[in-house]
Amino acid sequence: MPKDPHNAQVAGPRHVAIIMDGNGRWAQARGRPRLFGHHAGARRVREVVEACPGLGVKYLTVFAFSTENWKRTQVEVAGLMSLFRRYIVKETRTLKDNGIRVRFIGDRVRLDAKLIDLMDTLERETQENDLVHLTVALNYGGRDEVARATKRLARDVADGKLHPEDVDEETLPRYLDTRVLPDPDLVIRTSGEARISNFLLWQSAYSEYEFIDTLWPDFTAAELERLCKSFGARDRRFGAVPA
Ligand code: IPE
Ligand code: IPE
Ligand code: MG
Repeated sequence: MPKDPHNAQVAGPRHVAIIMDGNGRWAQARGRPRLFGHHAGARRVREVVEACPGLGVKYLTVFAFSTENWKRTQVEVAGLMSLFRRYIVKETRTLKDNGIRVRFIGDRVRLDAKLIDLMDTLERETQENDLVHLTVALNYGGRDEVARATKRLARDVADGKLHPEDVDEETLPRYLDTRVLPDPDLVIRTSGEARISNFLLWQSAYSEYEFIDTLWPDFTAAELERLCKSFGARDRRFGAVPA
């Protein structure tokens, strides 16, 4: 049924995923090093997370570091890893007290032991929370995720736990990092780039997309609210012809 944009009851997105892009350009515009932009970007996350309950957003997934981002300079990569460690230490209590359940997706193998330890602790510390489910994609790539999932699936076939004939489109998602999460309803990318850069490839097959010019460190709760409202006015047909 087409939705009435004037109807305040229109449903907003339940799961919003954000490609937080533009930190480097934000810093560059101020004559500062790229890491200055990453720090400013990290500070935006709290406001966005806190806006979620009021907007009916139960799941928020943010892209923090891609499997391709290792191609950056050693200084930037090391600075980002240190930022992730410090961010987790600094935010754990607030996240826990505010009812946020945190999960990480991506391949942990390449991350350092200290960071993995902090990620595990944050997941454990917040596992009873249910107000907002915040998922952080860290060393995440959609293709890498599908490849790792396929490896696990193939292992189950080899072990006789799964029959090849039983594999259908419900099977693979059970092996993805996101297996406990619903698919994103709305994917937002900041910074003016209109590409998905290997984010949630399988899961976003039917997501609505918003590509906005705002650089991530300038993104606000008000902008999220505007995008959620415009999502509510969209007619999601999923391939069907509306009655
Ligand atoms: C996004 O900002 C953050 C990460 C990819 C880690 P960028 O660092 O990509 O910023 P731009 O795109 O260079 O401006
Ligand atoms: C995507 O941004 C990854 C994250 C936001 C973490 P990039 O800046 O790495 O993507 P490209 O290089 O523009 O495709
Ligand atoms: Mg970028």
